[in-house]
Amino acid sequence: MQILSVRGGAPLRGSIPVSGAKNSVLPILAACAVCRGVSVLHNCPDISDVGDTLEILRCLGCRAEKRGGALIVDARTLCGWQVPAQYAGRLRSSVLFLGALLAHMGRARIALPGGCPLGKRPIDLHILALQALGAQVAVGQHFAECRAETLHGGRIRLPFASVGATENAILAALGCEGTTVIENAAREPEIGDLIRFLRAAGAQIGECGGEITIQGGAPLHGTTYTVMPDRIETATYLCAAAACGGDVTLRMTDGRTLLPVLDVLRASGCEITQSGDTLRLCGDGSLRAPGAIETAPYPGFPTDAQAIVMAALLRERGRTEFTETIFENRFRHIAELRKFGAAVTFSGRRAQLDGVAALHGANVRAEDLRGGAALVIAALCADGESRIAGVKHILRGYDTLAGKLQILGGDIKYVEIPEEMLYNTL
Ligand code: EPZ
Repeated sequence: MQILSVRGGAPLRGSIPVSGAKNSVLPILAACAVCRGVSVLHNCPDISDVGDTLEILRCLGCRAEKRGGALIVDARTLCGWQVPAQYAGRLRSSVLFLGALLAHMGRARIALPGGCPLGKRPIDLHILALQALGAQVAVGQHFAECRAETLHGGRIRLPFASVGATENAILAALGCEGTTVIENAAREPEIGDLIRFLRAAGAQIGECGGEITIQGGAPLHGTTYTVMPDRIETATYLCAAAACGGDVTLRMTDGRTLLPVLDVLRASGCEITQSGDTLRLCGDGSLRAPGAIETAPYPGFPTDAQAIVMAALLRERGRTEFTETIFENRFRHIAELRKFGAAVTFSGRRAQLDGVAALHGANVRAEDLRGGAALVIAALCADGESRIAGVKHILRGYDTLAGKLQILGGDIKYVEIPEEMLYNTL
C-alpha cells in the first residue's frame, strides 16, 4: 500500500513549473471525440484522470496516446457510443461523453460518473441541457442513455451555472442544426479553454458574460492546442509556501485566473508578485486571519481552493469563517485536519477555523482530491512526521506533487507499507 510520508517544519524555497489544468484537459479530451481528425494537446498533466479518459477514448475506437507531455487523439476511427462503468465510474468528467457522443454518433450510453465524494452530484442539469436540444434521455440506476434522430439548436437556461452541464451543452450543441444559446453558463477559465480548443477545430462559438452561443452543424477537424495552466495546482503550491514560509516561484502559470485566492493570501500577510507567467510568494509562515471566505462560481472564490486555503491558515492569528456554497459535503478534510491539532469545526455549509500556535504530525487519510492536498499542506507545516493514506485521490489530479515539493525543500516521499500496518496506524 502506497502512502505519503512527510516530515514538516522546513520553509519552502525554489522554483517549479505548474502543469496543465486537469479541469481543462478532461473536457478537451471529450471534445476530441467530436472532431473528425487527429488532435495534439500540449502541456497535459500526467495524472490518472487523464489516463482513464484516454482509456475511454480507446474503448470508443479512437487512437489515443501519450507522447512526452503531449496527447494525440485520432477520432477518425471512433465507432462506439457506450462508456462502461469500469471507466465512467472513476471520474466525474466521463459524463461529458454524453454530449460529445450525442453530437458525433446521435446516441450515447454512459455509466453514471464517479468523481470526488462532495455530495450527491446529480446530473439533472446535464439532462435538462440535452433535452433542450431534442435528445430523448433516460437515466437508470447505473446508466444514462440519450439519443436523437436530429439535434436542433435551442435555448438552454441553466438554473445554476454548472461547469459540467455547461460543457456538456456546448459539446452536444456542436451536433445540432442551427444555433444554441446557453444562458447562465458557467464562466470558469477552463470553459474558455474548451471554447478556444473548439474554435481551433473549426467551431463557431461566441461568449459574452454568462451567455454562450454555438453555431451547430459545422464539421470539426483535428487541431493542435496547448492546455492552460492549472489554477488550482497553482493555488496549492502558493498555500503550501504561505503555510510553511519561504520564497517560492511558480512558472508557467497565470495569476489572473485565481485572483480571489491571491487576495486572501495577501490579506493574510503574504507578499505575492507576478511577472509574465511566473508567480512568486514570499512569507515567514506567520499568517493573520484574512477575513471570511465564501466559495462561489467564477469569478468568485473557487470551491476547489477551499480545503487548501483552510490548511494554509491553520496556524493563523485569529479566526476565519468559511462558507461552502457549491457542494453540500465538502468539509470531509476537517476531521483529518483536527488530527494535526487544528481547531476547526463545521456545521452544514459553514466552518470555523481558530488558529493554533503549532501543529503536530499525524496519521491521516485523504478522502478526495483537494482534501488530500490540504492534508499534505498541514503535514508540511506540522512538527514531526505524518503519514497520509488515500494517495490515489491525490494522484488523480496532481502531476508529481511529491517531486515538486521536494524541489522546494519539502521532506515528502512515497513509501510502501504493508496493508495491515496501514490499518493499525490510520
Ligand atoms: C467541476 O465539477 C470540477 N470538475 C470540480 O473540480 C469543481 O469543483 C466544480 O466544477 C465547480 O467548480 C471538473 O471540471 C472535472 P458543477 P462539476 O456541475 O462540473 C450541482 C476538482 O477538485 N449540480 O459546477 O461536477 C453539484 O451537485 C473537482 O478538481 C447539480 O445539482 O461541478 C454541485 O453542488 C471537484 N446538478 C454544484 O452543482 C447537475 O446536473 C456544482 O457542480 C450538475 C451539478
